[in-house]
Amino acid sequence: MPLTPEELANVAARTLAHYDAGARDFWEGTRDHDVSQNIAALLSHIEAEPPFTILDCGCGPGAWLDILSRANGRDGEKHYYGFDLTPEMVETARTRLEGRVPPSHLQQGNILSDPSYVFAGDERPYQILYAFDVVQQLPRKLQFEAIQRMLARVAADGCAVVFDHDRWSPHGLRMGFRKLVTKYLHVELVPRYYCNARYPALARFASKLRASGRYTAEIKAAPDGRKRALIVRPLSRI
Ligand SMILES: C[S@@+](CC[C@H](N)C(=O)[O-])C[C@H]1O[C@@H](n2cnc3c(N)ncnc32)[C@H](O)[C@@H]1O
Repeated sequence: MPLTPEELANVAARTLAHYDAGARDFWEGTRDHDVSQNIAALLSHIEAEPPFTILDCGCGPGAWLDILSRANGRDGEKHYYGFDLTPEMVETARTRLEGRVPPSHLQQGNILSDPSYVFAGDERPYQILYAFDVVQQLPRKLQFEAIQRMLARVAADGCAVVFDHDRWSPHGLRMGFRKLVTKYLHVELVPRYYCNARYPALARFASKLRASGRYTAEIKAAPDGRKRALIVRPLSRI
């Protein structure tokens, strides 16, 4: 069932408060992150014939779109889009991607809200939609809904990919413990802003999606076993 405007506003307000207050921590904590190891995995799932469209849901300052739009030789055949809840992030992404991704392809939006997936009235679906460390920003009860929103906009020959940590993986459990100690015992085992992340139950979501009979869903783990990718494709094309 779609969220009410009040529910959406509540989710947005909580996140914006965090990024307003914690933007510096975010930059400090993530600026050295190397996302390139995930790029190959993502690109290997592009099976559709170009031209096709790629949407970054919760694009932040545009790191992924930056790498993707540089990595692809046939750029004119690929169209990149992104949205993010935090206006400052969208502005940063626009500046960073100037000349490669038109400013109108980057907008403020909420992963839980369908209009965010539409740019300048263009309703066409995407061959790839992905969200990197965004689902973890949502209240747990809305995380599966976010994935469903993404799937509502995926092309029949496309896929949706959620990159995140799995709550119940060894890494997720370890981090859960460290976050609890940091938050409630004030012993800083992880940077404090980590405590705002609620790792989703990716493997459970995959089972649920498979059980629906509408999708294939697989989980891939990064080489260090930590970060996971939940890759979902509509069954209608098979
Ligand atoms: C940890 S950052 C990751 C940014 C980017 N995906 C990356 O990997 O660099 C999380 C981002 O999710 C955005 N975000 C949080 N909740 C969101 C929501 N409901 N809809 C869209 N973006 C959201 C935040 O504004 C922030 O930019």
